[in-house]
Amino acid sequence: MLFARRLSIWPTLPLNVHFRNDSGWLPFPLNDGGCRIFSRARHAIWHACRTLGLGSRDVVLVPAYHHGCEIEALIQAGVKIRYYELNELLEPDVKSLEQQLTSDVSVLYLIHYLGFPQDAKRWRQWCNENDLLLFEDAAQAFLSEIDGQPVGTFGHAGVFCLYKTYGIPDGGAVVTIVPPGRPTSELQWGGWRVFKRHVNWVAERSALIGSVHLFIKPFTKLLRRKKNHNPYKEFEMGDPFSPPLALTTKLLPKLVDETTAARRRENYQFLLDEHRLLVPRPFQTLPQGASPFAFPIESNDADAVLKKLRRYGIEGLLFWRNAHPSLPAEKFPFSMAFRNRVFAVPVHQELTTSELLQISEAVHKSIIGNHTIPIANDSYSSNPKNNRPLHSTR
Ligand SMILES: Cc1ncc(COP(=O)(O)O)c(C=O)c1O
Repeated sequence: MLFARRLSIWPTLPLNVHFRNDSGWLPFPLNDGGCRIFSRARHAIWHACRTLGLGSRDVVLVPAYHHGCEIEALIQAGVKIRYYELNELLEPDVKSLEQQLTSDVSVLYLIHYLGFPQDAKRWRQWCNENDLLLFEDAAQAFLSEIDGQPVGTFGHAGVFCLYKTYGIPDGGAVVTIVPPGRPTSELQWGGWRVFKRHVNWVAERSALIGSVHLFIKPFTKLLRRKKNHNPYKEFEMGDPFSPPLALTTKLLPKLVDETTAARRRENYQFLLDEHRLLVPRPFQTLPQGASPFAFPIESNDADAVLKKLRRYGIEGLLFWRNAHPSLPAEKFPFSMAFRNRVFAVPVHQELTTSELLQISEAVHKSIIGNHTIPIANDSYSSNPKNNRPLHSTR
C-alpha cells in the first residue's frame, strides 16, 4: 500500500488537548489519597518494596512471563526473586507456586496481562492462607475492574502505567498499604516528548504523514540500536525518585474519560469477532471489567507478519521478546512460547471505525498463509525448543 495511516498500540495525544477543560473524573488509583505518581511504574515498584519493608531476606515469587523492568526494579530494591510458571490461561500455576514456597517467601507478584484481570480475589486468599503479601502489577491494566472493584485494590500494593492508556509521555502510579513519599528529583517539562505524541496523532489521521512516519521510523530505530547494543537497556531503572513530567501532570486530568475502558472493550470485541482464531486462549473471551491494552495475535512467524502489517500502516508490537537475564529460560517453555509467538495490534480508545477496519483488513491480508498453532497445547508447551512452531518440532 502506497499511503496508509500509521496505527500503533500506543494511544496518541490529540492536538486540541491543551485547550480542553479537566474532565472532572478521577479513576482509581488517582482518586486515592495514598496514590503516588512517579515517572515510570518501575520507580513505583521500587518504592512499594521499600514501604512494604521488603529487603534481602525476602523472596518474591515472580512470573516467568514478564517485561523485565519490573524484575529489575525488584532486584534493585534489594529483594530476592524466584520464578514461577503460568498455566495455559496465563494464571499462576499452583503446582509451580507450591514448589517454590519456602519459609523465606514473602510476596506473590501477580501481573494482570493486557488489561485482562487475573482472579485477584482468589490470589489474595491464597496469599492470606500462606502468610504472603500480594503485589498486583496492573501496568497494563489501568481502569480494569473485577466485579466493579478496580484491579490493584485486592493486594497490598498495586502499580499502574498511566501512559499505556492515555497519550501522556510518562507516569507510573502506586498504591500500597503504607504510601511512599513523593518523588523528589528535579521536575522536567517534557515538551519534546509531548510533541512526538502529537506527531503520532497526526500520523494516525493523515495517510501522507503516516507513511512518512512508517518510512523513517526503522532508520531512527537502527541509529539508536547502533549507538547502544545492550538488549537489556529497556530494563534499566533510572532514578527511582523521578517525578512525572510537568506536562504529564497537566494533561492527564484533561484526558481521563469515563468511557475509555468501554471503548477499548468495544474495539477489542470488534477485532475478536473477526479474528478469534488468531487470538491466544487466555484472551479469547473478553471479561466485563477488562480495559484491554492491545489485541494479541499468535503466529508461527510473528516477525514476518509484523513486517507485512507495516505495509498496511499497522505498527504491531512483539512485546517482551527478551526476558530478564536472571530468568533460566529453558525451564519455562510455556512463557517463552508467548514471548516468541504473540504480538499485538491497537485497540486504544481514539481509534475510529475506519481505522479499526484498516487494522482488521491488514490482519486478514498479512496472516493468510501463516498457519497458526495455539500455544495452549501440551506437547508444545513441554517442548524446550519453544520458539519453533509445533509442526516443525515433530
Ligand atoms: C508488566 C509490567 N510491569 C511493569 C512495567 C514498568 O513500566 P515502566 O516502563 O513505566 O517502568 C511494565 C512496562 O512495560 C510492564 O509491562
